[in-house]
Amino acid sequence: MQRPGIAAATQTKFLLDESQLPRRWYNIRPDLPTAPQPVLHPGTGQPIGPDDLAPLFPMALIAQEVSEEPEVAIPEEVLELYSLWRPTPLYRARRLEHALGTHSAIYYKYEGVSPPGSHKPNTAVAQAHYNKQEGRTRLATETGAGQWGSALAFACKLIGLECKVYMVKISYDQKPSRRSMIQAWGADIVPSPSKETQAGRAILANDPDTPGSLGIAISEAVEDAAGRDDTAYSLGSVLNHVLLHQTVIGQEALVQMDLAGAFPDVVVGCVGGGSNFAGLSFPFLREKIAGRDIDVLACEPAACPTLTRGPFAYDFGDTSKLTPLVAMHTLGHDFVPAPIHAGGLRYHGVAPLISQLVRDGLVRAEAYLQSDVFASAVLFAGSEGILPAPEAAHAIHGALRVAKAADEAGEERTILFNLSGHGHFDMSAYDNYLQGKLEDVALDEDEIDRALRAIEGLPTPT
Ligand SMILES: Cc1ncc(COP(=O)(O)O)c(C=O)c1O
Repeated sequence: MQRPGIAAATQTKFLLDESQLPRRWYNIRPDLPTAPQPVLHPGTGQPIGPDDLAPLFPMALIAQEVSEEPEVAIPEEVLELYSLWRPTPLYRARRLEHALGTHSAIYYKYEGVSPPGSHKPNTAVAQAHYNKQEGRTRLATETGAGQWGSALAFACKLIGLECKVYMVKISYDQKPSRRSMIQAWGADIVPSPSKETQAGRAILANDPDTPGSLGIAISEAVEDAAGRDDTAYSLGSVLNHVLLHQTVIGQEALVQMDLAGAFPDVVVGCVGGGSNFAGLSFPFLREKIAGRDIDVLACEPAACPTLTRGPFAYDFGDTSKLTPLVAMHTLGHDFVPAPIHAGGLRYHGVAPLISQLVRDGLVRAEAYLQSDVFASAVLFAGSEGILPAPEAAHAIHGALRVAKAADEAGEERTILFNLSGHGHFDMSAYDNYLQGKLEDVALDEDEIDRALRAIEGLPTPT
């Protein structure tokens, strides 16, 4: 085991032994300054109970969704699977710092070392485990960029469940290799919207050329799971239990920053539904809520600016209004974001827990254009070597902006960001960028106003 000291001043990687894998997930709910809003039944408008969710999820996950326990023990089978790639490394980005000429120190936690290439299997193996335990034999899910679909296919294969993936059509077309990876792990995959569900058929009848969206793919997977006793629904982000499972990231990072003899002034992550951001930031937010001064920055695409421009409101999690109503920052459930390359960030909502933290002023958010994000990704790849996923590149861009602002103000910051995945299956996006073909999409106010009409008449959070 490494100890902080003189070596830390020149060290690049801060590694933990397998025996240092966290054995408990951290639950932020009891630490929140404002209690989360209740989840409402779409028909009655009343708070839902466990029985309402039972057709879709195993009881263990429903219990975690509403748990007020500060910590949840990680099952042995999940720990054993985590040990295939965890603990993940934490790096000091010395070469990036040098390339920038910054006086700040930049660290990143690298989740791209998992077999599917991102943070997503942290929750996929946990969800597969609990479903298997409670007798489900098949899981249905959606995937945007393909990272979540491949993570769940991987988890189902290792744990012994069937898996069905509805992949957002634009990504299905742009990322044939992700598709093959999902198939290699034995899952069945279709482009969404598909003709296999009522939700898919209705959307195709209206707009046969739709690029699809996460909201649409969720409708299809929920419909699939609700219609079969052997099948549960599995979501790769947004829900409390998903965010809970990801907190192994931040817990490891706290120990690794300690090994580096440092503590972050700024913690940065990209936000789609919010799971990697929560995974890194929640254990640091525990420190912030206890009084420590940390700037926590969420980075999103300008084409889907949920936290920066969407109101905090009750909305559905999916396009066809099959899910319960949750209070979150949203752009409206029928909002179809422009087909930017960070497919995993094209979601109309953001996790209720993160939305609440933004509302309470504990987290702030910024939105970026994709050409600026890719410029930062290429700078990062050219100094640190790792080619980031387009989603993760939003966090890199956020971290670089913080470092530049600190330099301009004559300050030195310690910055930690989450590099949530590698971009080895995103080369068509890099091709477009390098050939100058990337289009920037900033959303105009009229389009947001139109999309938000979808939530008129829904209950208002207190
Ligand atoms: C590498 C990577 N990072 C981030 C995300 C965004 O999801 P979340 O906000 O749940 O972390 C995705 C989603 O697919 C992803 O693949």
